[in-house]
Amino acid sequence: MSIAVFASGSGSNFEALVERSQSQGWPEPISLLVCDQPGAPVLERAKRLGIPTAVYHPSDYKNKAAYEEEVLACLRERGIRLILLAGYMRIVGPVLLQAYRWRILNIHPSLLPAFQGKNAVEEALNYGVRWTGVTVHWVDEGIDTGPIVDQKPVLVEPEDTVDTLQKKIQFVEHNLYPAVVRKLLTGRIAPPEAAGGDLHRE
Ligand code: GRF
Repeated sequence: MSIAVFASGSGSNFEALVERSQSQGWPEPISLLVCDQPGAPVLERAKRLGIPTAVYHPSDYKNKAAYEEEVLACLRERGIRLILLAGYMRIVGPVLLQAYRWRILNIHPSLLPAFQGKNAVEEALNYGVRWTGVTVHWVDEGIDTGPIVDQKPVLVEPEDTVDTLQKKIQFVEHNLYPAVVRKLLTGRIAPPEAAGGDLHRE
């Protein structure tokens, strides 16, 4: 049994998760990167870190369900029981949500429920908030709406640009996400009880 990370882009969170899982000897390893963008830089990181990859081109499938069925088959074949979204730029559909109910986590670069969606850092800066931050949450049918697991604030300073704020946020992400996953694996955090999502029951 092990963990898959889903990513579409740079993959700095993926790398932070892998490094921490190895240096801390997590009870379940990260054994797969699922990527929906052939050529994404995260694939180079996976190669360097020795993590197997499954690369998909979703437009090759007749619809989202068909794409997710294929991803699901791969996850089952490899005994994946926890999915970590880390810059996966796609809304998770019913096929994966039902198969992995309360077993999919996401990291989002704002203090949810503020600034949902894909431009969270820029929107927070433009809004003029003094504090933004990072949220780790369970994934449900909505966009950045699932139950919150943990959050960390980040101060917005007057001289911040999207770039500097993003860097500060990512620094916090690289610590918060691995810390949350470790707590989950060691039973210090539990999935929402509603749908019997107890990670320790199988
Ligand atoms: C992160 O900032 C994360 O919050 C958001 O997408 C970004 C991914 O960055 N969901 P990276 O690919 O991990 O560097």
